[in-house]
Amino acid sequence: MNARMPMPDHAATHAATDTLLDVKQLSVIYRGLTRTPVQAVAGVSFSIARGSTLALIGESGSGKSTIARAIAGLGPVESGSIRLDGAELAGKGDRAAEAGRHGVQIVFQDPTSALNPRWPVWQSIVEPRLRERLKRAVQRDIAADYLGRVGLNARHMDRLPQQLSGGQRQRVTIARALVARPKLIILDEAVSALDVSVRNEVLLLLDRLKESEQLTYLLISHDMGAVAQLATSVAVLYLGRLVELGPATRVIGQPSHPYSRALIEAVPSLQAGARKDAPKLSGEIGDPAHPPSGCRFHPRCPFAIDRCSNEVPVLTPHRGGESACHRTQEIEAVPS
Ligand SMILES: Nc1ncnc2c1ncn2[C@@H]1O[C@H](COP(=O)(O)OP(=O)(O)O)[C@@H](O)[C@H]1O
Ligand code: SF4
Ligand SMILES: [Mg+2]
Repeated sequence: MNARMPMPDHAATHAATDTLLDVKQLSVIYRGLTRTPVQAVAGVSFSIARGSTLALIGESGSGKSTIARAIAGLGPVESGSIRLDGAELAGKGDRAAEAGRHGVQIVFQDPTSALNPRWPVWQSIVEPRLRERLKRAVQRDIAADYLGRVGLNARHMDRLPQQLSGGQRQRVTIARALVARPKLIILDEAVSALDVSVRNEVLLLLDRLKESEQLTYLLISHDMGAVAQLATSVAVLYLGRLVELGPATRVIGQPSHPYSRALIEAVPSLQAGARKDAPKLSGEIGDPAHPPSGCRFHPRCPFAIDRCSNEVPVLTPHRGGESACHRTQEIEAVPS
């Protein structure tokens, strides 16, 4: 294209919405030699606007980490598209390297296993830049800079991971992620193992870093307090499928889908005037190798009708977001 030609309309539209991550129809199947293939993620689509935080919530086994690993290039992708700033990350050879090069970093729940126990803190922090063969003094300067950004200081530089507290170790893994100059940080239960007061400090740090380092987060957490504090929007996953998606205040304050309701109303402190007798989630999430027909939630849903076991509900626009339920309108009339 001639450099002086005006931008095409679709490029202008893209810039206006400013999507950083765009996941379309992502499916992941785990294949073992002897076992039935497990479709852990089935046709999931969502996007994250630059500078925002999308929280991905759902019970254990719903496929959250599978989506995280697919985006970070650390796990398989069966089909679908993962675009970061327009660059396709699915279907590439070395997907982890590709994701890293395009600015994806991931922070896991357990900082101990994420750090080399024999490396001092400064060396772990500069790990993403080791390839540049910088002088040791320069590397230490970089480490000191990033230690400061995560609320640690020069005293921590030469310590080994076991000489740090759990919260300090998680700050080190966050510093290491920042050194890679990421656009997107995936936080996969990153505060879940921390004591309450430490968890609160790390949440505040993450909130501050989002502004100062111009970050975008994909927050995976079963901690609804953390979700309410950080998330701009919320996506609810059940057995590999998205069931609800919308602005965080609305999904947390007034969840629409029966599964979101059961999941969120189980945490009374989140909702002023929440019912003490809020329906509890009964039964187990089930096995993605043998998912229920129709709506995957139907065996546990108090609102299920015959149609629910025969027909897969699709995400449909609803109250500023989307919900995948055959009975959205009728259920709306039932107070939460
Ligand atoms: N490597 C694997 N091989 C086979 N099945 C897996 C593998 N990893 C995860 N699963 C299965 O995929 C489903 C989703 O797992 P996961 O993504 O870890 O869920 P979550 O993070 O929401 O707890 C679960 O049923 C889990 O047992
Ligand atoms: S589609 Fe049916 S089973 Fe699924 S959540 Fe809606 S009412 Fe419940
Ligand atoms: Mg997980």
